[in-house]
Amino acid sequence: MILYFSATGNSLAVARQLAERLNERLMLLTEAVQQDLTAEKRIGLVFPTYDFNLPPAMPEMISQLQISPQAYVFAVVTCGSAAGNCIWVLRRLLRKNGIELAYSHKVSMPDNSALAFGRNPNKQLGKFQRVPARMEQIIRELQAESHTLHYSWFGLLSWLLGRPAVTRGMIHCMGPKVNPAKCTGCGICSRVCPMKNIRLTDKKAITGDHCTVCLACVHACAQQAFTTNGLQTHKERQYRHPQIQLKDLLLR
Ligand SMILES: Cc1cc2nc3c(=O)[nH]c(=O)nc-3n(C[C@H](O)[C@H](O)[C@H](O)COP(=O)(O)O)c2cc1C
Repeated sequence: MILYFSATGNSLAVARQLAERLNERLMLLTEAVQQDLTAEKRIGLVFPTYDFNLPPAMPEMISQLQISPQAYVFAVVTCGSAAGNCIWVLRRLLRKNGIELAYSHKVSMPDNSALAFGRNPNKQLGKFQRVPARMEQIIRELQAESHTLHYSWFGLLSWLLGRPAVTRGMIHCMGPKVNPAKCTGCGICSRVCPMKNIRLTDKKAITGDHCTVCLACVHACAQQAFTTNGLQTHKERQYRHPQIQLKDLLLR
């Protein structure tokens, strides 16, 4: 079973390929937390890096997972370039539930947070050139049930960025805000939000208080009605993995 979390499709594309090649089923991590997965012999976790750490909502999801301590558990992290302490943090969280992380690796892809800093993720498509070789390595190692953690402890900066107060600060700054004048109430944002944190009131999107700053809404809004880090969204900076369609990311 491959459990994934994805806002703009990078992690979904990786999860899909792993599911296909390893003959496993795919499930959203947000849905998996409600399931009994103790019969699964192999569990893969595929998710993005945020601030060199796990997405803020992930630690709670990991602690709720019901998986067998006998399962072969692996993680594949997608990132713009550096996954930081992600694997180190994940391994500690899993260990609290008696689960040992057997294998991990990372895949670098366009950085979907670039638009929050006035840059364009679509200018980073060159990063895809190295993905096939990395995926083949990961698949080969997973087929052999390798026990290898490809990761580094990224030092104090990553640790500091993972402190709760810093995470709260990141959510405060980068958390998407809706411009009601631009919002047409189409509801796409509420359907791509993996946290189900956006609802429509009077045909306007309203964000709630459990945003995990994945930026799915910012990238998917056809009206560019969301700001992040106080920046207006430009259409050309909105990103989605080239093999993933909007409908693949819609939750309901
Ligand atoms: C809030 C936020 C913080 C991020 N921090 C990092 C980071 O520290 N290092 C990095 O390499 N990429 C970082 N990224 C980029 C994502 O990890 C990367 O684009 C990922 O592949 C997106 O996956 P998805 O398309 O499945 O959502 C960040 C993205 C977001 C939204």
